[in-house]
Amino acid sequence: MSRRLAYGLAALALIALVGWQASRWFGADSPAGEAVVIGGPFSLTASDGRRVTDQDFRGRWMLIYFGFTFCPDVCPTELAVMAAALDALGDDAADIQPILITLDQERDTVEVLRDYVAAFHPRLIGLTGTLAEIQAVAGAYRVFFQKTEPDASGDYVVDHSSVVYLMDPAGDYVAVFGRDVDAVAMAEGLRHYLD
Ligand code: NI
Repeated sequence: MSRRLAYGLAALALIALVGWQASRWFGADSPAGEAVVIGGPFSLTASDGRRVTDQDFRGRWMLIYFGFTFCPDVCPTELAVMAAALDALGDDAADIQPILITLDQERDTVEVLRDYVAAFHPRLIGLTGTLAEIQAVAGAYRVFFQKTEPDASGDYVVDHSSVVYLMDPAGDYVAVFGRDVDAVAMAEGLRHYLD
């Protein structure tokens, strides 16, 4: 088994696990306070160039996705689902801050992120940082990511778990939405949790 395949299988196993949890938790009470803590402090650079921390988002809900702008399919699909869910909620989504945190800080500079997020939703912000900062926030959110070996032309992808996190105005974990959740279901879930 190649290393890349092994990483892919590990990512799939994680996605399956989180997807199962999402379906188990969907519509149920928040599992916050149970064994696994998801989320935590971060300090990153926003796509408008400002330094931000998790504290800057207190009082608002964070809808967070981890990915990278060169991602060929999964990231654009999930970001489009997030954007459509927010649009479906209209004014009810005013207190939700959608966030993309890159897992590819080498290529996802502030400028690259700024142009990328603007293509998905006017309120979506991108966050990047140093490798240590990205590793810290990914670790806090239990996100798996692994850069593949660059090919002859230096291209690489980042294998990563694909989950959308909902954090409440206190910064605490509320729910995850797996890849099986479409925009209609995500909007319904957000409405449920925000009520
Ligand atoms: Ni991706």
